[in-house]
Amino acid sequence: MYKTIDVRNTQIPRIGLGTWQMQGITCVEAVSKALDLGYRYIDTAQIYENESDVGEAISTSNVPRSDIFLTTKIWMDKVGPETAQKSVEASLKKLKTEYVDLLLLHWPVGSVPLDQQVKSLQAIQKAGLTKMIGVSNYTVDLMKQVTDDLGADIITNQVEYHPYLSQAPVLDFVRQRDMFLTAYCPLARGRIRAEPLLTNLGKKYDKSAGQVTLRWLTQQDRVVAIPKAANPLHIEDNFKIFDFSLEAEEMLEIGKLARQDERIVNPEWAPEWDKENDKSQAA
Ligand SMILES: NC(=O)c1ccc[n+]([C@@H]2O[C@H](COP(=O)([O-])OP(=O)(O)OC[C@H]3O[C@@H](n4cnc5c(N)ncnc54)[C@H](OP(=O)(O)O)[C@@H]3O)[C@@H](O)[C@H]2O)c1
Repeated sequence: MYKTIDVRNTQIPRIGLGTWQMQGITCVEAVSKALDLGYRYIDTAQIYENESDVGEAISTSNVPRSDIFLTTKIWMDKVGPETAQKSVEASLKKLKTEYVDLLLLHWPVGSVPLDQQVKSLQAIQKAGLTKMIGVSNYTVDLMKQVTDDLGADIITNQVEYHPYLSQAPVLDFVRQRDMFLTAYCPLARGRIRAEPLLTNLGKKYDKSAGQVTLRWLTQQDRVVAIPKAANPLHIEDNFKIFDFSLEAEEMLEIGKLARQDERIVNPEWAPEWDKENDKSQAA
């Protein structure tokens, strides 16, 4: 039930495996386990220093490469015109593949003009090294610049999104532009486990608070989630969310957990984030 969403005639898996902070055998085993269980979306990044491990797991799995939706991200010091494509070629070598499905600019970078960053991304796409392009940690204003001013066909913005953080402005924007939102830190790094509303709903559906949270995210229009899990039981649980549905009222109640400034990932180089408003997240 709803395992993928259709965006611009591409099937995007609703759940992917995040791989930040997993390296070596831990990463190889987690990605292999996920692929065995039916995950078809793997999220990595140059800065995670695990592209070789992800590549090893994918290349040794029984799942055809063409069935896997693979994302990587260009790190901030590589977005310039001289470095972007070379860095992606190096990523592909490590990933043991000729292309990724989605290539993202990992964070907004002020030191290189945005049009140059976007042109590099488009050139990499034209060269066939990625099927789709997108951004991560972009505000609505930055997304507008990329789409409206620079005419780039980005398909997603990967941002932090979980019950404690509203992403209403970004959600509104991606829905208007035939894009989707990729939710990172979807489990708020485990903080959701102690949330009474989520644990109570878990009891009702015989699910954990984490599963209720992932169901809440992926039941929303144009949202996919990439929970990270090294523990095999977590990898398994996070995929078992397609056999139940939350009621509309429950979706709204979970949306009300959002608090101002509840950001987990907010490094010094972060942009000035969109001001969250009190519109419902759970459309
Ligand atoms: N674009 C960006 O700037 C950006 C930033 C941050 C993250 N990301 C991406 O998003 C992915 C996910 O975000 P995240 O890793 O920061 O946080 P997260 O997915 O919200 O949380 C991961 C933590 O939750 C635990 N966990 C996973 N499944 C669980 C379950 N069913 N029950 C209880 N605990 C569970 C994991 O434990 P175990 O590992 O022990 O299983 C791990 O400690 C990253 O791996 C990365 O791919 C992107």
